[in-house]
Amino acid sequence: MRARLVAGNWKMHGNLAANDRLLEAVKAGAGGAPGVEIAVCVPFPYLAQASAALRGSGVAWGAQTLSEHDSGAHTGEVAGPMLRDFGCKYVLVGHSERRTLYGERDAQVAAKFVAAGRAGLVPILCVGETLEQREGGATEDTVARQLRAVLDAAGAAALRDAVVAYEPVWAIGTGRTATPEQAQDVHAFIRGLVEGHDRELAANLVILYGGSVKAANAKELFAKPDVDGGLIGGASLVAADFLAICAAAAKGKA
Ligand code: 13P
Repeated sequence: MRARLVAGNWKMHGNLAANDRLLEAVKAGAGGAPGVEIAVCVPFPYLAQASAALRGSGVAWGAQTLSEHDSGAHTGEVAGPMLRDFGCKYVLVGHSERRTLYGERDAQVAAKFVAAGRAGLVPILCVGETLEQREGGATEDTVARQLRAVLDAAGAAALRDAVVAYEPVWAIGTGRTATPEQAQDVHAFIRGLVEGHDRELAANLVILYGGSVKAANAKELFAKPDVDGGLIGGASLVAADFLAICAAAAKGKA
């Protein structure tokens, strides 16, 4: 059976005091989700805090983006090897907010994906369509284009040590969740694309759903055969909500 993963994306939220409480509560409650890998992707300044709080706990941590370069004159950027220094396991790559607010294009996202692998990080590659693209019937084309950019740059084998997150842009932070059927359709499409390169790899690829996942809708999303967990924004900032979502991933499949 495929691994199950629930990752929190804190985005640009938190402070030292609030993080302490949240990290301690997540650590304390993680046992309620047997068989589920739990991770939190925190803002860069709090990586040291996350690593101090979570080391040895079984809860993993990571960052929300990285530079495509390993070092050099790139003021304000953070490199993969630096994230490894702080014990990161995961890094988000190509989140839609990076694509839309900070102009990250497919080629740059692919370069970041490759840089994550070089640094020994597990990239969580985010893909997903806008509302306009969905309504225009371009969901599959959009996701395929985003995935192909990475497959071309990194090679299909690189997906062995990666996770894909399907995050429809229209569902992020809007309270409007994809239906379990909509999520399943796109997840199956993504797995099918990868299957064209390598069947076994596709069968083992962890594909997360993200976009307004809450405790109340997590179970039915995670029950779908190609939904292997979630990438959680707002609900990951409230320990009880995040832990309930993690527990739903444990119970979501037979
Ligand atoms: P929300 O769960 O707040 O909709 O955010 C989803 C997301 O962008 C996770 O990366």
